[in-house]
Amino acid sequence: MFSSFFSIIILCGAIVQDVYSWGVIGHSVVAHLAQSQLTDEASHWVKSLVPWYLSGNLTAVAIWADDILYPDTNSFGYPNWQWSRPLHYINTPAWACNYDSSRDCINGVCIEGALKNYSKRAIDANLDDVQHQEALMFLVHYVADIHQPLHVGFQEDNGGNRVRGYFMNETYPTNLHSLWDSGLLNIRLSRDFGSNITSYYEYVHTLMISQTPTTSDDDFNQWIRESSKVVCQQVYLDETNMTMNASVNFTLGDIYYERNIGIIEQRLAQGSRRLSVLFNRLAANRPMVPSRCEKLCSNMIKLIVLMCITLKSFLS
Ligand SMILES: *[C@@H]1O[C@H](CO)[C@@H](O)[C@H](O)[C@H]1NC(C)=O
Ligand SMILES: *[C@@H]1O[C@H](CO)[C@@H](O)[C@H](O)[C@H]1NC(C)=O
Ligand SMILES: *[C@@H]1O[C@H](CO)[C@@H](O)[C@H](O)[C@H]1NC(C)=O
Ligand SMILES: *[C@@H]1O[C@H](CO)[C@@H](O)[C@H](O)[C@H]1NC(C)=O
Ligand SMILES: *[C@@H]1O[C@H](CO)[C@@H](O)[C@H](O)[C@H]1NC(C)=O
Ligand SMILES: *[C@@H]1O[C@H](CO)[C@@H](O)[C@H](O)[C@H]1NC(C)=O
Ligand SMILES: *[C@@H]1O[C@H](CO)[C@@H](O)[C@H](O)[C@H]1NC(C)=O
Ligand SMILES: [Zn+2]
Repeated sequence: MFSSFFSIIILCGAIVQDVYSWGVIGHSVVAHLAQSQLTDEASHWVKSLVPWYLSGNLTAVAIWADDILYPDTNSFGYPNWQWSRPLHYINTPAWACNYDSSRDCINGVCIEGALKNYSKRAIDANLDDVQHQEALMFLVHYVADIHQPLHVGFQEDNGGNRVRGYFMNETYPTNLHSLWDSGLLNIRLSRDFGSNITSYYEYVHTLMISQTPTTSDDDFNQWIRESSKVVCQQVYLDETNMTMNASVNFTLGDIYYERNIGIIEQRLAQGSRRLSVLFNRLAANRPMVPSRCEKLCSNMIKLIVLMCITLKSFLS
């Protein structure tokens, strides 16, 4: 009961739709497809941790980790969650093109640290269900984020946020990070899928099942290196193959879109598969602990036995 009550409070924000980060499309695809690939055991486990009023719908908590950060989606609670802001990404020096955890993830405060932390916490028998739930809701989000290449971006331009310019024929400026979060995907959905997310799920599903599972499906470091590689080889090249930067406004359109939409979809498919692999593994490795009631009951019984013994020795 306490757990459900608490999750209503922390989740209030998640009901409002927003336009930040991988965005609703990217996060929904990863959560939805991952949920469809779970073992029975993992499926049961995930459903038991998703807040009860969402009927086990993992997609509905996929952008919770973003929603808690902003006043318009979490009006009163957002100051309490600012510590989690740096857990959505890794910043490397510009054009380092590699990841060095001692340089880029000090004290584990980065997306890799968060993936490790919450993978442990999700099944830690010493934590309660509210903490398991928090861990699950962070994991569903961060596994997706880490597959967005610019979540392993350059410190100097805030992962592409400060590289601004114009996309397609839009008259308002955008930035590179936002294009990779949602700008390119929005075009894809409206052009080729009639803005029907269900039909897009089906498409990315076919990509996902055609990818060969590898040992790196379990290796957070490998996911990071892949994103970093895409950033250095593709993301910053404009349509004339010049390198974009924060001091010049870009103008990008169809050529940039055609060149990059395929890699975005590969990343979504990989993220989806790997999230299901992670949840399947966690569910299988979960220690079988008695539920809180069982623990409570057994403690009560112990207490009663103790009292009887004490009482008996007192009376005799
Ligand atoms: C699950 O949640 C998503 C996001 O809130 C929503 O769009 C979708 O309709 C829900 N699915 C079901 C089966 O309720
Ligand atoms: C692990 O998660 C807990 C709970 O959210 C948090 O308080 C702690 O700072 C995290 N540790 C690291 C190293 O990220
Ligand atoms: C942009 O505008 C030009 C000229 O009006 C038009 O030919 C082109 O199709 C537009 N491109 C997009 C992506 O809407
Ligand atoms: C969206 O796509 C799905 C799957 O292709 C289809 O079943 C559904 O009817 C479509 N919805 C709309 C509103 O066209
Ligand atoms: C940019 O590089 C790509 C890949 O090397 C090449 O296919 C393309 O023709 C180049 N574009 C221009 C304008 O040079
Ligand atoms: C930024 O890009 C422009 C155009 O490619 C180039 O002329 C300029 O030297 C670059 N500036 C920096 C600081 O790299
Ligand atoms: C880039 O575009 C913004 C917004 O339109 C404008 O204010 C700024 O002066 C432009 N910067 C450059 C270097 O052209
Ligand atoms: Zn995020």
